[in-house]
Amino acid sequence: MSNAFYSQWLDPNMVYSCAYFENGDEDLATAQRKKIDHILTKIRLQPGQTLLDIGCGWGALVLRAAQKFGARCVGITLSQNQFDLATARVRAAGLSDRIEIRLQDYRDITGTFDRITSVGMFEHVGKKNLAGYFGRMRELLADDGVAMNHGITVPDPSDAPMDGSEFMDRYVFPQGELPHIGLVLKTMQEGGLEAFDVELLRRHYAQTLRHWADNFEANASAIRDMVGEKKYRIWRVYLAGCAHAFDTDQMSIYQVVCHKAGNLSSAVPWSRRYIYDHPIGQND
Ligand SMILES: C[S@@+](CC[C@H](N)C(=O)[O-])C[C@H]1O[C@@H](n2cnc3c(N)ncnc32)[C@H](O)[C@@H]1O
Repeated sequence: MSNAFYSQWLDPNMVYSCAYFENGDEDLATAQRKKIDHILTKIRLQPGQTLLDIGCGWGALVLRAAQKFGARCVGITLSQNQFDLATARVRAAGLSDRIEIRLQDYRDITGTFDRITSVGMFEHVGKKNLAGYFGRMRELLADDGVAMNHGITVPDPSDAPMDGSEFMDRYVFPQGELPHIGLVLKTMQEGGLEAFDVELLRRHYAQTLRHWADNFEANASAIRDMVGEKKYRIWRVYLAGCAHAFDTDQMSIYQVVCHKAGNLSSAVPWSRRYIYDHPIGQND
């Protein structure tokens, strides 16, 4: 699907993942900025540190990480459309010396990074590949580094297909696979990473999807003209259906912060206060 299609219903920064509603009444653009700041605060990103964003989409997170947190970033995507727009946005922001966007698979990345984020990407990895995915993350992480995986899960720990999965697989996310949070934590450990902070964002995704669905309805005729009746109807039911699924605990989502297993206990903060000490989502 084209960038123009996504721009009809995503926020202006084109963030295609669950937002963070600190208070619940934020507009979508604010909640997406808050999500990015929430993540970058959670991983304690410091000026001058290197950050790898696996599945960077249209570049919103790396732009914010360089602009507001002073990081040096690499963002990778498999989408040519995303690569083109993200690269143009980095250039327009005058940040080409601090951010590199690459059209690259995470399995082909080399080097070491102080921080790694992956937001709304691991749904494409496949359950049998999860330990390898987290193992790759570990190889790319500095010994004292911090990584964060933000992704969709299912509440049912069995492998039974959930309602609507045939539709999603056929029309929206071919070969996407959603694990239970238990499998995420198990494969993370198998990959050599220790999870130290787990946050449920299910309510936030239900709200995000309601915003997306509202935008979609508001721009229905432009979208129908752009993509045709069939795709219009597929995406319409997908957005509304997922809002319902997150609302009713048929789908879920977690942020998991981790570091290399075997660290001294002093690598873990005493409390979660550092996450809430700073204002998030400010539009400056
Ligand atoms: C749903 S989008 C999320 C984008 C972005 N993180 C955001 O929050 O807006 C999923 C992203 O994962 C990327 N992706 C999927 N499989 C990948 C892989 N094997 N290696 C690198 N990126 C991948 C896609 O190209 C896309 O940028």
